[in-house]
Formats: sequence, C-alpha cells, structure tokens
Amino acid sequence: MRIFVTGADGFIGSHLTEKLIDLNFDVKALSYYNSFNNIGWLKNINEKKLKNLKIVSGDIRDFNFIYNETKNIDVIFHLASLIGIPYSYLSPRSYVDTNVIGTLNILEATKQNKISKLIHTSTSEVYGTANYVPIDENHPLSAQSPYSASKISADSLAFSYFSSFNLPVTILRPFNTFGPRQSNRAIIPTIITQIANFRKKIKLGNLTTTRDYTYIDDTVMGFVNCISSNDINGKTINLGTGNEYSGEQVLKIISNLMKINTSYKQDNKRFRPIKSEVHRLVSDNKLAKKLIKWKPQYAGKKGFETALTKTINWYLDQENLRNFNTDYNL
Ligand SMILES: NC(=O)c1ccc[n+]([C@@H]2O[C@H](COP(=O)([O-])OP(=O)(O)OC[C@H]3O[C@@H](n4cnc5c(N)ncnc54)[C@H](O)[C@@H]3O)[C@@H](O)[C@H]2O)c1
Repeated sequence: MRIFVTGADGFIGSHLTEKLIDLNFDVKALSYYNSFNNIGWLKNINEKKLKNLKIVSGDIRDFNFIYNETKNIDVIFHLASLIGIPYSYLSPRSYVDTNVIGTLNILEATKQNKISKLIHTSTSEVYGTANYVPIDENHPLSAQSPYSASKISADSLAFSYFSSFNLPVTILRPFNTFGPRQSNRAIIPTIITQIANFRKKIKLGNLTTTRDYTYIDDTVMGFVNCISSNDINGKTINLGTGNEYSGEQVLKIISNLMKINTSYKQDNKRFRPIKSEVHRLVSDNKLAKKLIKWKPQYAGKKGFETALTKTINWYLDQENLRNFNTDYNL
C-alpha cells in the first residue's frame, strides 16, 4: 500500500511517517520546499529507516505538483498546515492560501487520481470555547481565530467533496497533541525548555484555560487505525483523551516531575485577544473508540505523567534542546 503524507516534516507528520515505515508501508513524505534542503523533523529519523522513505519537497498550494505526486497513491494523510494561532492574527491570508486552498488541492487530486482513502487533519480549535463538555463531534463550531476559521473552511470543503463526489475522506480532529519535536510555541515545550535553561520564573500566557493533552504516540495511532477502518468515509472523529488540565496544573506537574520549584511570570505577548481566547477544550472520544478502535494509552493522571516524563527526557537531551530557544515563539 502506497501512502502519501503531507506535513511529514512537521511534529505530528514526522512521527506518523516514522510509524508507517516501522509498519512496512511504502511511504512518500512531503516536506515543505525551501532552498536549504531542510527536511524538518524527518532529519531525526534514523538513516536505516530513512533509506525506506521517499521524500519529495514541494508546496500544497501548487495543484499540479500535488496532482503529479499523488498518482499511484492509495492513501493520503493530509497534515500540512500553518498551525500557529498568533501568526494567524498577523498573516490571515497565508492561512487561507495554505489551509483552505492547499486542502482544496489535496481533495481535487484525491478525486482526479481516484485515491482510495484521504485522512484530512482538523483541530479541536474549530469548536471554540466549549458550550458543553465533553465536546462531541456534533458540538457547534466557532471560529475564534483566523487559524480556526481556515480549518473550519478546510473541513467543510472536505465534507462537501464527500457529499458531492462521494470522495472517501475522513476528518480526524486531534485535541492538543504533545511530545518530542513539538514547537515551543506550545505550553508544554515552553515550560520544559525554560526550566531546562535554568529559568525559575516561567514566562507564560493565560494559565486558566484548560486543554485535553494527548500524547503524540496516541495521536499517531488514531491516524494509523484509519488505514484498516471501514465505514469512516464522510465521518468526523475526535482524537482526545477526555481529560483536561489548566495551564497552571500543567506547570505544577512538570515542575514536580523536573524536581524544581518554579513560579509564573505573566507574559502579555502570549495572551490571545479576549474574544479569541478558547477557555475550555475536552474531548468526547466515544466515536473514535467505536469507529477506529482507538483507545489512548496515556490517559488519566498517570498516563499524562508518563507521557510528560518521556517528553521531558527528550527535551533534556542537549542535541534536541539546541533546536529550541526560550523566547516567545510565534
Ligand atoms: N499539534 C497539535 O496539537 C495539533 C492539534 C490539532 C490539530 N493539529 C493539526 O495537525 C497537523 C500537523 O500539525 P503539527 O503540530 O505537526 O504542526 P507542524 O507545524 O509541526 O507541521 C505542519 C507542517 O506543514 C508544513 N507546511 C506548511 N505549509 C506548507 C505548504 N504550503 N506546503 C507543504 N507543507 C507545508 C510545514 O512545513 C510543517 O512541517 C495540522 O494540520 C494541525 O492543524 C495539530
């Protein structure tokens, strides 16, 4: 089975690509073109595994490129996206170009190349602040940032291709995923890297918001399980543990695990505009259990701590830590 992964150079995509190689799939990975020959986190995959991977550089905004690269492909995992919320305030147009037009290109290539399965990646951010918890897939959508608006648009296009052309597309909706290789824009890496750089007053934004933190290995298995799952065309499926933690709790847990006393220093740059702040996200994952037999292995307080320990150990490796700065990261 030939699999094409977009966003393979990124955090989730690189882990997914690695897992697919381990499972002996024939994988073609799309890395975002740049003139430095930089293949992002794919460089972290060991050489032996990399030999079994075909890497192409390009841009999802270019339909011809995507069309040509997806001939003879059976399954597409579409993860390429601009994902930073703060940067979406500064450059909303680029989010439309990448997340909406880019996704349209993937949908059209899937249709024209008669690909058997497309897994499109959404995000829990599309729900906005929870009206009720846990959030199931019927929860209303609320675009509280240009990022969220672009992902809602992309999801709608995906669903429209299922309705109009019977396209075999499934929308996977991960909640906050964390683990090795995540950008320190996100709260967990920013806490760990600041502590690792001997800071005691940890600069952070809003600590009252709660999120459903899902470990990368669990998120990856959600994608992998879709390969063998039938009856998921046209479905939207949440991937989250069902547990929620506030930023304050996360800071406390990580400080305990790293055996250090920390305090919090408010960094105004890290706050979202008031109406754009999403206060609460926690997933109902019954549908994932039913349709793709997904059960997070790192759920509950114990699971969260185990996953955080793995994450901390990865960032504490000096080779890895060198890739991250402790300043505010858009
Ligand atoms: N990280 C999370 O917590 C989280 C949660 C929910 C959903 N998601 C979704 O998962 C997907 C992957 O996110 P991630 O956390 O790995 O982010 P990431 O930024 O690490 O990966 C995204 C990748 O997309 C690539 N890309 C951007 N523009 C491109 C373009 N024009 N052409 C080709 N490639 C391009 C980038 O090079 C990047 O490596 C995204 O669709 C995101 O919306 C992530």
